[in-house]
Amino acid sequence: MTQTGVRVERQPLSRYTTLGVGGEAEIWFVETLDQLREAVSAPYRILGGGSNLVVADEGVPERVIRLCGPLAKADLEPDPQLSTAGDIVTGWVGGGTPLPGLLRKLQGLGLSNLEGTVGIPAQVGGAVWMNAGTRFGEMFGGLHSLELVTPQGTRTVTPDELDWGYRNSGIPRGEIVSRVRLRLRASTPPDVQARMTLADDARKGQPKMKTPGCAFKNPQGVAGKGAGRLIDEAGLKGTRCGQAMISPEHANFIVNLGGATAADVHGLLDIIRRQVPVPLELEYELWP
Ligand code: FAD
Ligand code: EPU
Repeated sequence: MTQTGVRVERQPLSRYTTLGVGGEAEIWFVETLDQLREAVSAPYRILGGGSNLVVADEGVPERVIRLCGPLAKADLEPDPQLSTAGDIVTGWVGGGTPLPGLLRKLQGLGLSNLEGTVGIPAQVGGAVWMNAGTRFGEMFGGLHSLELVTPQGTRTVTPDELDWGYRNSGIPRGEIVSRVRLRLRASTPPDVQARMTLADDARKGQPKMKTPGCAFKNPQGVAGKGAGRLIDEAGLKGTRCGQAMISPEHANFIVNLGGATAADVHGLLDIIRRQVPVPLELEYELWP
């Protein structure tokens, strides 16, 4: 029994990853900040929506924290103290809140700033950790402040205290995004919907199979080719390693054909690194 009554279960992480790969770990289903403080008292990893993860077939030795209950709920009431004429600042949104459902609610309320992230199957905490986004907008476009938990304690920061950028929040590894406040702007439901549709249309070429999204970040700094185009030009679409395949639809996506292993995915990542002439930075998080 844990001191704070956290539910702990040993389960395969393949159940919690969009790739459908990953061995067993001890999962801590954390619902309160007290439980979170207990959970970080021994080596841990924090799991979000599992949509950017390649977890080893052996699993991981650390406890795996999953935020749920109140830490997966959103208080979208504007905070009268923090909101201004232009900015609507919400109450706390738990790090475990599923991003797609949150965006749907914001659309219904006609609240703008985050709709460019539509289609990202993340939790809020994981999306903030990566500063997930598309060319239509990113998480840091709609954040007011973040609560971060570590074994040393809890701190609240604002985005301008972090060195964030493309697919990078600047949050030190190991710090858990327990809750955030959103910074939104008043719009109308149809206008938010129109911008969501635009961002969604840009996904038409992405595969609908089990995948952790784009494998590599797009090289930055030089106006030029993205990772997908580079992998495509290397002639690698459709390449298979076991039950994993470089998607014939979009070359920066690795898909699970059914029964793929982490080793299969690593095999494809090695092939890409060897055959693409430009150095590419991995976007996936590899566990361990
Ligand atoms: P996870 O995959 O569970 O974890 C990823 C990392 O975040 C890990 O290091 C984990 O420890 C850390 N983390 C998770 N939760 C927290 C937390 N509460 N506090 C601190 N760290 C945490 N990404 C984009 O940027 N743009 C896209 O357009 C996009 N499209 C995608 C489409 C598909 C179909 C899929 C499957 C993925 C896509 N992705 C995209 C990738 C992925 O959704 C993002 O990287 C997302 O940010 C991962 O969030 P997650 O909650 O699933 O995190
Ligand atoms: N392209 C190819 N071959 C391919 C794939 C793409 O030639 O196999 C070409 C396309 O024709 C297009 C260009 O490359 O001219 C860009 O492709 P796309 O519009 O699909 O965008 P991307 O740069 O590959 C980025 C993000 C996605 C995000 C989309 C939509 C990265 C690494 N990827 O993809 O994010 O959804 O834009 O905004 O930044 C993710 O990060 O996991 C992810 C899916």
